[in-house]
Amino acid sequence: MQDKVALRTWFLPLFGEPIIIGSIGLLGETGCMHKIMVLNAKGGCGKTTIATTLACFFAGQGYSTALMDFDPQHSSYQWLKIRSPEEPPIKAIDGVRTATGVTRSWQLYSGAETDVVIIDTPAGITGGKLTDLFHKADTILVPVMPSIIDLLAMRGFLDELGRLRNRGHQKKRVGIIANRVTAGNQSKDAIKRLSDGADLPLIAVLRDTQNYSTAMASGLGISELNPGMTTMDREHWGPILDWLKQEIPGTPGKPASSSRARWPFAVA
Ligand SMILES: Nc1ncnc2c1ncn2[C@@H]1O[C@H](COP(=O)(O)OP(=O)(O)O)[C@@H](O)[C@H]1O
Ligand SMILES: [Mg+2]
Repeated sequence: MQDKVALRTWFLPLFGEPIIIGSIGLLGETGCMHKIMVLNAKGGCGKTTIATTLACFFAGQGYSTALMDFDPQHSSYQWLKIRSPEEPPIKAIDGVRTATGVTRSWQLYSGAETDVVIIDTPAGITGGKLTDLFHKADTILVPVMPSIIDLLAMRGFLDELGRLRNRGHQKKRVGIIANRVTAGNQSKDAIKRLSDGADLPLIAVLRDTQNYSTAMASGLGISELNPGMTTMDREHWGPILDWLKQEIPGTPGKPASSSRARWPFAVA
């Protein structure tokens, strides 16, 4: 408990006046650290929701977890600010601000090892900015909402992602998550057709539920809400965690920094 409080006061000042504690390691150079980016040029499709939910799954399983926010609106950071120190700690990394004397974003203000960095991104990312972010991620999750406007906007974005992958990055894993899917399969089918057309896997379907806004408003994730209310949502996250599993430290052959980190996740 005392450790959790200490860690929280350690990382919160980063978004005020950035302070650097301990060594500074470039992301990607530290052990088996894995960077999962949540990316879509469209706003409101669930990037922050998925980034914060995912961070809670990892932190809850003992992984040393960081949440990096590239969005100038700092939504992920706002969520972290209301997160209770009683909950498993998640480190904050500001992807937007520049710390004095330190080159921006890709420097991790951390004296501790980090197993997993979840990266939240803003809307409107295309062209050179998209290329830049694409190269920073090990794995990319693309949330898509089944509205016609979102689906139309997705075509150009997925084409751009496809072109980047075809420039020698076919091994970079990009998975699509259908988000806010309501009863009836039509909307899911439209996203499936879109993902097939882009030759990218549709890895999970998340339902539209207030549980996500409840979690967001309380600094929590689905995995930390009342299990009785979230059984279905935890099940929906199973395929996402399974799909990520092969890259994550703590699985055979990839030791995590903390011996507490364990796989598989207890999602149900
Ligand atoms: N599966 C879901 N069910 C219900 N509401 C959701 C779901 N996913 C996201 N939302 C809500 O949609 C809104 C936009 O989500 P957000 O994660 O902020 O999108 P983005 O970061 O892409 O702009 C928020 O109010 C969030 O609570
Ligand atoms: Mg957001």
